[in-house]
Amino acid sequence: MTRKVHVLNGPNLSRLGTREPAVYGTTTLAELEGLCRGWAAALGLDVAFEQREGEGELVELIHRAGDQADGLILNAAAYTHTSVAVRDAVTSIVIPVIEVHLSNPASREPFRRQNLLEDVVYAGIRGFGIDSYRLALEGLAARLRG
Ligand code: DQA
Repeated sequence: MTRKVHVLNGPNLSRLGTREPAVYGTTTLAELEGLCRGWAAALGLDVAFEQREGEGELVELIHRAGDQADGLILNAAAYTHTSVAVRDAVTSIVIPVIEVHLSNPASREPFRRQNLLEDVVYAGIRGFGIDSYRLALEGLAARLRG
């Protein structure tokens, strides 16, 4: 059976490619989506890839993943550090959630050390650039096979 994985991206990740390239690299979100589709296909996963700027929109997509997918890869971006609503959405679903970040927030500004998701997700992968997504897909595929 093909497993369904949703990959959700939060605010400002629409600007990947030109946004702070020294921190986030030069790959655009559309290119990252293409890479994720290729990595997922090689792992036998069916993938849906989305990005939203708004907190409520992200919450709705987390609910949808909980209803429709077997696993969720979530880069909540700045909401990682601020949003009780995103945290509560994660705890409202039962599928495994992998938190991803391109950068390693803990090694940046002090306010990024607050993480409202790390203790409610299945696992987290941070700091590998776009490879964070590849590693998350590989880890989630293994977890779903498990
Ligand atoms: C990010 C890290 C967050 O601290 C930041 O707010 C982002 C991107 C990352 O992928 O490295 O928008 O989630």
